[in-house]
Amino acid sequence: MYRKTYVEIDCEKLENNIKEIKEKYNDYKYYIGVVKANAYGHGIESVKYMIKGGINYLAVSSLEEALKIRNIEKEVPILILEPISYDGIKVAVENNLTITIDNKEYFDKLLKDKINIKFHIKVDSGMNRFGFKNSEDIKYVFLNSTSSLYLEGIYTQLFSGVGETYKKELNKFKTLTNNIDLNKIEIVHLDRSLTLEQHDKNEFETGIRLGILMYGFNKQRYALSWKRKLLNKILNKKDNFVPSKLELKTVLKFFTEVIEIKDVSKDEIIGYGGMYDNKENVRIAILPYGFADFSFINKSYVYINGKKYNIVVNYMDITAVIIDDDIKVGDKVEIFGENISIREASRLANVNVYKLLTSITYRVPRIYNYKGKKKEVEY
Ligand SMILES: Cc1ncc(COP(=O)(O)O)c(C=O)c1O
Repeated sequence: MYRKTYVEIDCEKLENNIKEIKEKYNDYKYYIGVVKANAYGHGIESVKYMIKGGINYLAVSSLEEALKIRNIEKEVPILILEPISYDGIKVAVENNLTITIDNKEYFDKLLKDKINIKFHIKVDSGMNRFGFKNSEDIKYVFLNSTSSLYLEGIYTQLFSGVGETYKKELNKFKTLTNNIDLNKIEIVHLDRSLTLEQHDKNEFETGIRLGILMYGFNKQRYALSWKRKLLNKILNKKDNFVPSKLELKTVLKFFTEVIEIKDVSKDEIIGYGGMYDNKENVRIAILPYGFADFSFINKSYVYINGKKYNIVVNYMDITAVIIDDDIKVGDKVEIFGENISIREASRLANVNVYKLLTSITYRVPRIYNYKGKKKEVEY
């Protein structure tokens, strides 16, 4: 790495997060690690440490993502969550991948073409994304699957894990599957990170899909903003969320460094067309990261040597912050991680942590730190 803008992943914390989840929720047979979008920005090298922690299945969005993981992990089962286009089937079979089926026609085509592959049925319990919406079709696939076109799992994506919405979604799932015996299907998975803790496990569930929890974020019941609390009070809306009992740690830190320092007098401009209107003489530090490294830089701050410094401009590759005499070229800069938490950074950028994390681009190398031993990976 020559340009010192990088992400550091604490792999031990990642491993421990999964152990913590498994210890508190030990009733599942399949812990499915959701590693789409380059493992939520953490990079797919993270998968190794998830497996060490106890993940025994992976899930990704596309065939392309699955193949990247299969390159580094030969054995672990991988489920592709989006239905894949039919021209990818041969490659999926060759790479021992599990596909999602969400309609009868697709299933029939596989049957007719004598394709040997494992699949999961996706049920649409209300989100109107992918999924069967007809119980007869589900029954048909259940009855006609074979040991070659093998029905290994069935799942849905829940919008909510609490209250009336959850009840409605669950009932819809049950109604759509009431023609089949769920106990005859190896992996039944409905819940994801933020619904796991919100209700008791249904007896028929054998798997759980874990995304954002693994990376260290649980439902923060008490983190509701005062505006939200007030609104809930006015609308007489109860905050139904169960407080999390998981002790998790975030694992990702994002750093850069000071590469230049400039004194700018108040009659000079900073940035294209004078983006920053400096009303007085200022000293600025130039940092080698911009919106091509990370989309959500805004006019907030970074952390250098124990203090926060305001960002004044950012470009595709460069960001400038106003500094004082304490800062020198070569100083390490935290964009977020420890002193500016990821939650704080996402609040400042006005996006959720999913968006924040997945917006760190391929240009940023990831350094995997496992108990002090470091490995750098470019994506
Ligand atoms: C189908 C499906 N399952 C599970 C997940 C993981 O969600 P979470 O990160 O909330 O666990 C996602 C995330 O987008 C998803 O689309």
